[in-house]
Amino acid sequence: MAAQVFIHNKVFVPFISAEAIGQRIAEIGAKINENYAGKSPLLIGILNGSFIFAADLFRELTIDAEISFVKLASYAGTATTGQVVTAIGLKENIEGRHVIIVEDIIDTGKTLSSFLPELHKMRPASVKIATLLTKPDALKYPVAADYCAFEIENKFVVGYGLDYDGLGRNLPALFILKDRNDDKINATI
Ligand code: IMP
Ligand code: MG
Repeated sequence: MAAQVFIHNKVFVPFISAEAIGQRIAEIGAKINENYAGKSPLLIGILNGSFIFAADLFRELTIDAEISFVKLASYAGTATTGQVVTAIGLKENIEGRHVIIVEDIIDTGKTLSSFLPELHKMRPASVKIATLLTKPDALKYPVAADYCAFEIENKFVVGYGLDYDGLGRNLPALFILKDRNDDKINATI
């Protein structure tokens, strides 16, 4: 793995290896195979960030399963919530279906906390959330992942589908923003 990568004007250092990611996804896939046997779930990946995680997770499934993707559009509307999120591109009729939302990361939880009520209006049989990452210290809205590969500290990460200003999604592993203090810490060791 590269010792560090430069994206725009920032430095990112190795955080979680491709092997570690693959191992956790295999574990989550096995749990989904067990929990959804005979249920033919529909995975809904949230674009853009989830596309690599969704592809790898989907290939761990040995049960009947379908996959679709949506983009979420936010409007600063006059609704009391201040934000309305709609799904672009959800063509499937999800009524009565077992849905698994696939996200790259739950940060504040704002995106999913707005999207979940919209999804429930379509009367699915069940909705669970699979996410590659959660940042528990950043959570501001009540969203809980049912399947989470890694809980991480409240720092910015890139790679494996996640971007910094459009770049970094193609990195095969996860990289984390380098702290200004990292060099000082290393210098004292
Ligand atoms: P939330 O609505 O605050 O939970 O934010 C979720 C979205 O913010 C994710 O789907 C990502 O697109 C983006 N995001 C949050 N934290 C990071 C990060 O550390 N790296 C890259 N994107 C992030
Ligand atoms: Mg995203």
